[in-house]
Amino acid sequence: MTLEDTKAARVEELARAKVNLALHITGQREDGYHLLDSLVVFPKVGDRITVEAAPDLSLQITGDFAEKIQGDPSDNLVYKAAQLLAEHVPNASSTRIELEKSLPVAAGIGGGSADAAATLRALAKLWGTSPAPTDLARLSLSLGADVPMCLEEKPARIRGIGEIIEPVTDFPSGAIVLVNPMIEISTPTIFRALEKKDNAPLPEMPEEFESMKALASWLKSCRNDLQKPAISQASEISEVLDLLASQPDTLLARMSGSGATCFALCETLKDAQSIATHLQDLHSDWWIRAAEV
Ligand code: C5P
Repeated sequence: MTLEDTKAARVEELARAKVNLALHITGQREDGYHLLDSLVVFPKVGDRITVEAAPDLSLQITGDFAEKIQGDPSDNLVYKAAQLLAEHVPNASSTRIELEKSLPVAAGIGGGSADAAATLRALAKLWGTSPAPTDLARLSLSLGADVPMCLEEKPARIRGIGEIIEPVTDFPSGAIVLVNPMIEISTPTIFRALEKKDNAPLPEMPEEFESMKALASWLKSCRNDLQKPAISQASEISEVLDLLASQPDTLLARMSGSGATCFALCETLKDAQSIATHLQDLHSDWWIRAAEV
């Protein structure tokens, strides 16, 4: 990660959604955390973190989903990320943090983890300081298994519980439609409902994907192992997947993370936008976004 060494007066960071294009559960550690093998991407849609110097540390939450996470600010991962970084860098100072919550919560697209990672990036810029990359990776992992991958926001293959991150370079350009039927899913519940925890890792990945079509064709030999237990909890996920899969420009439809957000991969942003518009007409209450990947 590259961080400027200069202080800024106000810093804004987009906390991009994390989408698991494939997610295989390959084992379980003694502490209960699951081992995974996943391909993740970070479409340009997300929450926004803004930080600026202020007399006290404070967190203000705005945006479409703000009311979902109001309550004690010190319980918020953004606040915890700020406190943690302040303990580990010399130049920390009091900061006002604003979180504009535009991603649905408990949605399988990393919201809280992306917010925590964006807070670390923003504060490192505001304070003009950052721990060494390995220390930052360790600190971010203590906030949540998905936080380290959200620091870089680049396509990557993820292993371990989320801390082994291998960037996938030459990722093909394309677009994605994200659809959440406005159902919140508890990640631990879905992990607990898994029947088999020692699945095969991802099949061998080509050195390079020539196109989104080639990527989608490889992804068809992969799965999201959390999809079945999530559908058992919320059958609406099947409806979303069927609808996405039936669109002519969909290359692949699958659920992300522990759900309930599902995605369709497309070749172009125009294709993704027309699917998003069509689905939003059918389901005005669903959260639907189209973005480049
Ligand atoms: O790390 P994080 O707090 O985001 O994880 C939330 C919960 O999801 C964990 O408490 C655990 O129950 C489950 N989890 C897991 N294996 C992972 C990631 C999360 O079992 N690799």
